[in-house]
Amino acid sequence: SLLREMRESLKEGIIPVGIFNDRELYELEMEKIFTKKWIYVGHESEIPSAGDYVLRYIGEDPFIVNRDESGEIRVMLDACVHRGVRVCRAEKGNASHFRCPYHGFIYKNNGNLIGMPAQQHAYNGLNKKDWGLLAARCDTIHGLIFACLDKETPPLEEYLADSKYYLDLLFGLQDEGLEVIGEPQRWIVNANWKVAAENFSGDAYHLIFLHHSAYEVGSSPFSMLANMNGEQILAGNGHCVDISLDKTEQVIEMPYWNFPQEIVDTFRLDRLEPKGLEIVRDSKEMLGNIFPNSSFLLMTVTPERDLPPVPFISMRQWRPKGPDQIEIWNWFLMFKNTPQEFKEASYRAGSATFSLAGIFEMDDSMTWETITQTAGNRFAKNHLKLNFQMGMNGMGKAKRDEEWPLPGIAYYPRYGEGNQRYFYESYVNTMLDDEE
Ligand code: FES
Ligand code: FE
Repeated sequence: SLLREMRESLKEGIIPVGIFNDRELYELEMEKIFTKKWIYVGHESEIPSAGDYVLRYIGEDPFIVNRDESGEIRVMLDACVHRGVRVCRAEKGNASHFRCPYHGFIYKNNGNLIGMPAQQHAYNGLNKKDWGLLAARCDTIHGLIFACLDKETPPLEEYLADSKYYLDLLFGLQDEGLEVIGEPQRWIVNANWKVAAENFSGDAYHLIFLHHSAYEVGSSPFSMLANMNGEQILAGNGHCVDISLDKTEQVIEMPYWNFPQEIVDTFRLDRLEPKGLEIVRDSKEMLGNIFPNSSFLLMTVTPERDLPPVPFISMRQWRPKGPDQIEIWNWFLMFKNTPQEFKEASYRAGSATFSLAGIFEMDDSMTWETITQTAGNRFAKNHLKLNFQMGMNGMGKAKRDEEWPLPGIAYYPRYGEGNQRYFYESYVNTMLDDEE
C-alpha cells in the first residue's frame, strides 16, 4: 500500500506525492489520527463565563466547547442522542441548556439529558443518566483547550512530551496568561491538512524564495538569511518546534521580539533557565506543530510601511474537510496584561501577514493548493516521489546540535527537513499502528 511504500522510502527521505490527496487514506486518518490524538479547539478566554459556548471541530465532527454552570470546561458532540440532530444553533453564545429542534430533548450545559416533551407518555422509564451528549476528554495548557476522543490516549501533558517545554516558554511568559483577540478567523483552502502541518513543523527553507517579496517590501525587520540560523527540534510524539536563534550574530537589534520594555517587564524571565531566556531575548521567530494539526507561531512583523515592527501570536487548527481541503482556523492571542493599543497593533500585524488577507498566507496557500492538485492527478499520483532529504547524509547544513540543553533533539541551522521527516514518521507509524 501507499503507506508501506512511504514507510520504506521515508528512510531515504522520499515521500510519494499520492499521500496528499487520497480518499482512502483520508478515511483512515479520521479513524487512526483524528479520533485518537489531542486536538486544539480554542482558548479559555473565549468562554470566560458560565454558560458561554463556541462551536468547534475535531476532524469532521462538530463539538460544543463550553463552560458549564460549575465553571468546568466541557467538549461535547453537537448531536442529539435521539436522532443525531444538531442541538447547538449558533457559532457562539451563552446557554444554560441546549434544546434539540426536532423532538425537543433538553440537555443541561454539562451535557446531562434532563427532559423531553410529553415524557410520561413518550419516554417514561427512560434512564436519562445514560443518554447525555457524548463527551470528549478535554484539558488545558496556558488556557489553550485541547480535546481528545479516545480514552486510551495518554493525558495531554504526557502527550505533549518535549513540546510542553516550548509551549510553557512562550505561553507562560506572563502570570496573567493570554487572551484571544477578536474572533478566530476561518477560511477554506483547497489543500491537504498535512501540507500545512508540515510547513509549520519546520519548513524554514521556503522563506527564502516564496516569501522573498514579503521581505522585500519590508514586512520583517530581520535579515532573512540570519533568520535561517536556528534550531529545529523534534519534540516527541511527532511534535516539532522551529526557532530562529542566531549563534553567529553578536548584536541583537530587537531583543524580546520587539515587545515594548514595559511589557517585557511583566514577563517572568526569572523562571527561565539561561537557554530559555536566550530564546525569549534573542530569537526572531518561533513556531511549531503539535501533532497532528495544531500549530503555533510567534513572529515580529511590520504591518504597514512606517509602522514599527510588532510581535503577534497565532494558534492554528488545520481542520480537514476532505483529502483536498482544509478550513484554516486562526486565533490571534496576546498576553492579557498589555495595553489595548498594543493588542490592536499586534492584531493588525498578524492580519497583515498571517490571515486570510495576509501577504505570507497568500503565498503559502497558493503552493499548498497546487501540491494537493498534483497529488490528485493520475500520473503524478503513481510516479512522483518527493525529496525530503535536506539535512540527511551530509546534504544541507543542518547537523545535530549535541549541545542543545533543552528538551527535544535539536538540529542547527534551519537548512534541514528533519522536522518534516519526523512529522511523517509519526504519521505513517500512527497510520500503520506501529508504536515502535
Ligand atoms: Fe433530538 Fe429527536 S432528534 S429530540
Ligand atoms: Fe510560509
